[in-house]
Amino acid sequence: MSLIETATAVRENAHAPYSRFKVGAAIRAASGAVYAGCNVENVAYPQGTCAEAGAIAAMVAQGDTRITEVLVIADSPSPVPPCGGCRQKLREFADGDVRVTMATIDGQSLTMTVEQLLPGAFTAGHMANTGGRG
Ligand code: THU
Repeated sequence: MSLIETATAVRENAHAPYSRFKVGAAIRAASGAVYAGCNVENVAYPQGTCAEAGAIAAMVAQGDTRITEVLVIADSPSPVPPCGGCRQKLREFADGDVRVTMATIDGQSLTMTVEQLLPGAFTAGHMANTGGRG
């Protein structure tokens, strides 16, 4: 299945009774495998998780650690970008040149790189002086 097919399908499973805003995400990993995630909200609102976080967790659980492509889809007037926290989560496993396509269910799409979404990201290199490890 393509990333858009995967993300579109998993979006249907989103648990979003509070925002009513269902999001689907699909990640292609270096192995070629595709991982899916949807947002999972909670009555204790801050406990909810984004679609991207779910897809990343699925990827890591299967032993993949590098992202080569991302697609996010929602029912929105314009393509929905990953939230700030998800940009950092994606950057953990994706180089700056990895493409993130933001799609709407009515066929719009916008593609940006991880570096464009999170310029000047905090990385392990910033901890070099203390011997901190990435
Ligand atoms: N959401 C995502 O899952 N991914 C995004 O890229 C944007 C926002 C979710 C979080 C929450 O469940 C709902 O959308 C409204 O913020």
